[in-house]
Amino acid sequence: MLQQSPRTATGNRLAAEICAGLTRPGQKELPSKYLYDEVGSALFEAISVLPEYGLTRADVRLLRTHAPEIIAHLPLPVTVAELGTGSGRKTRWLLEALARRRPSCYCPIEISRSALAMCRRELGDIDEISIVGYEGEYLEGLAQVAARRRDGEHLLVLFLGSTIGNFERPAAVKFLGEVRRILRTGDSLLLGTDLEKPVAQLLAAYDDPLGITAAFNLNLLARVNRELDADFELTRFRHLARYNPAARSIEMHLRSTCAQRVSLRAAGITLTLREDETIWTESSHKYAPGDITGLAAAAGFGCAAQWFDHEWPFAESLLIAA
Ligand SMILES: C[S@@+](CC[C@H](N)C(=O)[O-])C[C@H]1O[C@@H](n2cnc3c(N)ncnc32)[C@H](O)[C@@H]1O
Repeated sequence: MLQQSPRTATGNRLAAEICAGLTRPGQKELPSKYLYDEVGSALFEAISVLPEYGLTRADVRLLRTHAPEIIAHLPLPVTVAELGTGSGRKTRWLLEALARRRPSCYCPIEISRSALAMCRRELGDIDEISIVGYEGEYLEGLAQVAARRRDGEHLLVLFLGSTIGNFERPAAVKFLGEVRRILRTGDSLLLGTDLEKPVAQLLAAYDDPLGITAAFNLNLLARVNRELDADFELTRFRHLARYNPAARSIEMHLRSTCAQRVSLRAAGITLTLREDETIWTESSHKYAPGDITGLAAAAGFGCAAQWFDHEWPFAESLLIAA
């Protein structure tokens, strides 16, 4: 295991970021990365198999079909770093294709301790792959992986499942630019992007009738209660998924069903919420197929190859650091 953030520093960052989001003038926000504690990561795994949520299945179809071709593009030896692995289940296809060519190292980078543990259990049986995990933020983990690479070793970064969609569009360019600066010319980034599709289909994917996505969203308030000694009353909030046509994104919010006050005792703040006021918890931006090469170029990458799923429009793009 690479260096782990000290518990207190992680806790302080969580408290500071949550307070900043909830006390900002105008729209209250909670950072989406905090959706993933142990409960949140387990609920996300359930979401990924819901009939309405076709995104993960599309990603799996592409990786299962094209993994050998993707790996054939890479110079060897290669170290694989994955940003935000979740369970890592989909990554098996790539790692098995890589292991058939050469023993390699896989570095999962995860903010969620339980997701990182799931990923180790899921992929730990691939004989030719050694796993070195990092519990922490994407760029901090990637910088550590890059610092430990050997001379002549290629780095493949995986950013699957359209997690890039959680960034506002300018922030996505900035983030990929920061990834690029950590890499060397010729290194690779395999980027998943969810593509535009009918709004009704998107809304169903983010507001399923079983209520799993609602529970995933509400768990963020439960987490704040647990970790910041807060008193959010969960029955006074409703999950809301809506499409923002200007941003071409699905937004998830938590809507307050009444006027209320909430205290976050460990953070020393009290909030007031109006009836129907929302807390914005996540955005999922959708891309047109033609957007991706422009996004990549703006961040300093060229596009070597792309694979598309047509059943649930989704793209996997192999980008090369220019
Ligand atoms: C949408 S899930 C995707 C999981 C998986 N890649 C997939 O495609 O199914 C995003 C994952 O990234 C992790 N994550 C979110 N923000 C992060 C951050 N800033 N640094 C590291 N991991 C993060 C979450 O814990 C979660 O497991």
